[in-house]
Amino acid sequence: MLNIAVKAARRAGDIINQASRNLDLLNITKKSRSDFVSEVDKAAEESIIGVLCDAYPDHAILAEESGISGNTEKAEYQWIIDPLDGTTNFLHGIPQYSVSIALKHKGFLNKAVVYNPNNNELFTASRGGGAYLNNQRIRVSKRTRMEDCLIGTGIPFRDLTHVEAYLEMFKDIIPRVAGIRRPGSAALDLSYVAAGRYDGFWEIGLAAWDMAAGSLIIQEAGGLVGDLEGNDTYLESGQILAGNPKVFVHLLQIIKPHLSKALIENQRAVKKIKRIID
Ligand code: IPD
Ligand code: CA
Ligand code: CA
Repeated sequence: MLNIAVKAARRAGDIINQASRNLDLLNITKKSRSDFVSEVDKAAEESIIGVLCDAYPDHAILAEESGISGNTEKAEYQWIIDPLDGTTNFLHGIPQYSVSIALKHKGFLNKAVVYNPNNNELFTASRGGGAYLNNQRIRVSKRTRMEDCLIGTGIPFRDLTHVEAYLEMFKDIIPRVAGIRRPGSAALDLSYVAAGRYDGFWEIGLAAWDMAAGSLIIQEAGGLVGDLEGNDTYLESGQILAGNPKVFVHLLQIIKPHLSKALIENQRAVKKIKRIID
C-alpha cells in the first residue's frame, strides 16, 4: 500500500512541478479569507484519488478539496489526502510545499507519505516499520537543551480566534531556543522534525490532512506528537505539538500557562466527542 501511495504522490508532484513553470496562467479562487485554491490543487487531488481508487476501490477517502468519498459506509481503510500542502508558497513561487498522503486502518494511522516535488525529498513511514527519507532511515534529533533547539511553527493566518494565545506562546519560546522557523507547509514541517532538522513544532488551527502523514512519520522516527495538552486528539482538534521526547515535554511546559480558556474548552470538547465516537 505504501508503494501505491508513493506512486500517487509522485504523479501529483509531476502535475505540481509542471504548473509551477507557468504560475501566471493559473486559475485561482478564494475559499475564504487568506485561503486560496488553484486548479493545480484540484488536478493533483484528482490524480491521487484516481491512483488510490484504481488500486483499492473499496477504501474511503478524506481529501482537502473534495471531502469525503469512496466507501464511506464500512471501509476499514481511509486515505487522508492533502494534494498540495503550502498552496500560498506555491502561488508565490516559494519552493516549500508538499503532497501529503496518509492511510488509516481501523482508526489508526498506518502508512504515510510526504513528498516535496521541488527537491525530490520523499518521507515515508509504516506503522511499526520506522520512518525514511529517500529510503534512508531517519530519527528525531537528540538535542535536549532548549537553547540548542530549532523549533518550527505555523503562524495563524485564516482563523484568528487563538492569535493572542499563540503570540503569548511564541513570546515565551523565543528567548529559550536557538531559533523559530515558519516555512509554510505543515506536512513538511512535521517531516523535518522526524528527520531531526527541527527539534520541535507547534501549530494551532490545522486540519487532519495537514497532520496525518507527518505525525506518523514523527512517531516512527522516535518522536512524540500530541495536542497542546499532550493528548492524542490532535487530528480532531487541529492543535498540534511535536518533537523529540525531551523537547516535546519542555514545549508542553512552556505552552501550558498560555492555553487560553477557549483553547482548553475546544480540546475538552474534542476529547468528549472522541470518547462518544470511539
Ligand atoms: C497550510 C500549510 C501551512 C499551515 C496552514 C495550512 P494548505 O496548508 O500547511 O503551513 O500553516 O495552516 O492550512 O492550505 O497550503 O494546504
Ligand atoms: Ca494543508
Ligand atoms: Ca492543501
